[in-house]
Amino acid sequence: MRRKLAAGNWKMNGLTTQLVELDNILKSNENPAVDLLICPPATLIASAAKHARGSAMMIGGQDCHVNLSGAHTGDISAEMLRDSGALAVILGHSERRQDHNETDQIVCKKTQTAMENGLISVVCLGESLEQRESGETLQVIGAQLAGSVPDCATSDTLVIAYEPIWAIGTGLVPSLEQIAEVHDFIREKLTERFGTDMANGVRILYGGSVKPDNAAEIFGVSNVDGALVGGASLSAQDFCPIISALE
Ligand code: G3P
Repeated sequence: MRRKLAAGNWKMNGLTTQLVELDNILKSNENPAVDLLICPPATLIASAAKHARGSAMMIGGQDCHVNLSGAHTGDISAEMLRDSGALAVILGHSERRQDHNETDQIVCKKTQTAMENGLISVVCLGESLEQRESGETLQVIGAQLAGSVPDCATSDTLVIAYEPIWAIGTGLVPSLEQIAEVHDFIREKLTERFGTDMANGVRILYGGSVKPDNAAEIFGVSNVDGALVGGASLSAQDFCPIISALE
């Protein structure tokens, strides 16, 4: 049985004063059946990990380098994330794919490094509006999944997040049928490649404009095991009702 996962991606938001929201989330969360993950900006990971120590909340990074150390100004390695208290990392987010030209191949290497260094990897996949409208969604998702997930993935180390690019930060959400189609497809492709046991253990999250008022219906969709939430994860007031909607 897969445990539900409510994950928050703070993106480039949050100063130290924002850490109080972690305490607020932990105080108000009444759903022990759900795993929690918050991925703050790199500057806050170590202090966030201290806040979360001993609680049900994991802290994660939003990216890591392919290598563990070296001359890569501004980058952070998987080992450094672990060292600062992170237990997970988001990889291949569409904003990284767009802003930093990350290809499936790069995402795959990063994911392998993250997994080898003990980090749960939340690998993001998603189609653009143009691809959705031209009927290419499953083809795009299938190629990203095949190209971005390394062979060493296990159900303990891999989480997939389906985030249609056009739904991120826009208030637009795919229909429940469209979400089901993609999530079922991802499970099917994982089964073909890794076998039933592994595939049935991988959490598949939906991400893109998840809010307190649409969370419950999204979580009712087949093969949706939780959410990767952007804007609404920045405050306990918005994030806690989303956690509670995960039965
Ligand atoms: O990674 C989460 C994200 O891209 C979704 O953002 O603000 O639409 O919930 P948002």
